[in-house]
Amino acid sequence: MGMFEVMQGVVPVETQGLPERFLLPANWYTDPRWMEIERRAIFRRTWLYAGDSAQLDQPGMVWAKTIAGMPLLICRDRDGELRAFHNVCPHRAALLQPEVGVQSCRQIVCPYHAWVYDLRGQLVGVPSQGQFAPSFDRQDHALQPIRLETWAGFMFVCLDDQVPPLQEHLGSIDANLGQHRTPATQLLLVKQYTVACNWKNYHDNTLCDYHVAIAHRTTLNRVQGPIRQYQHQLESFVNLLYTPTTDPWQSENPILPQLQGHSRDGFFTYGIYPNLHLLGLPNGILAWIHIQPLTVDACQVRLEVYGTPEFSPQPDALLAEFEAFMAEDMALTESVQQGYASGAYTPGPVNGLETRIVHQQQLIWQAVTAFYQGKEGNY
Ligand code: FES
Ligand SMILES: [Fe+2]
Repeated sequence: MGMFEVMQGVVPVETQGLPERFLLPANWYTDPRWMEIERRAIFRRTWLYAGDSAQLDQPGMVWAKTIAGMPLLICRDRDGELRAFHNVCPHRAALLQPEVGVQSCRQIVCPYHAWVYDLRGQLVGVPSQGQFAPSFDRQDHALQPIRLETWAGFMFVCLDDQVPPLQEHLGSIDANLGQHRTPATQLLLVKQYTVACNWKNYHDNTLCDYHVAIAHRTTLNRVQGPIRQYQHQLESFVNLLYTPTTDPWQSENPILPQLQGHSRDGFFTYGIYPNLHLLGLPNGILAWIHIQPLTVDACQVRLEVYGTPEFSPQPDALLAEFEAFMAEDMALTESVQQGYASGAYTPGPVNGLETRIVHQQQLIWQAVTAFYQGKEGNY
């Protein structure tokens, strides 16, 4: 079955403008054929979170990682510049660095036939080169560079040359959270979970401002405060829930002195297309929740919490706080996944507190629709 037939079979017929409160049908979360479509229509056409550049603090460091199912290499070259490549040898497709993680090396040597690349991606050595055709030229086989840009030291990659710069993608994030990272900021906590639900299901949950006062009553709800103070902002590719910090929070937390205005007063919860969340608090906490597809009904949820030790809570306290509400979310999203798979569900009505879900789902819908129409994605 071709992709167009897959699309026709599982989405509503009308593609001319979305109903105002449109939600994706259940089979977008359960039919494995969406995985490849999403990879091509979404993940290869936008900015993807790639981690903290401080992990590559010395020239010669190379980080192999998998982003949205794609094996990538991020290097700091001899001149200190960050570069990204596919972790795939142009000769016979072996993974250049098969083990995920950071290594220090002068050159990248493919384990299969030992082609050698420098950290700018140039092919600089080929065993038995004389046995290739006389026209063989090393310059024709360099690693193809992938776009890489940073915000506040955090790296993002993009496989599409047409997509506007990262700064545009991130909207108001820099204005509101650009000062939260200080020279003393450190990675305080990393936790990775495999959750038995589709990646969009977990993303929807993290965008859902309807369940917090109910499912996270004694956890996240205590930081976000009463619903009447919620403020939403929808932008091109990000959306924001802003809540003023509560009195108990303020009495327990010092505030970074350099923060101004709303950045001092509030808890910023950003949803970032396609699969990322950033939580920022005026005690210097910046927390990424990155949701990567594994299979149609499993995803990897990675939590990275950064902070400034003098101001931010201790890692143990942070772990307890984040794990509590994330455990609540995992139970809910796994239950929703079973509901989607039941065949008994069509999307119910949308509450105003679910606006951010609709916003992100519209972007997903538009990306997939544009892909089928042969257009340039969302841009
Ligand atoms: S596959 Fe890399 S050198 Fe052959
Ligand atoms: Fe939640």
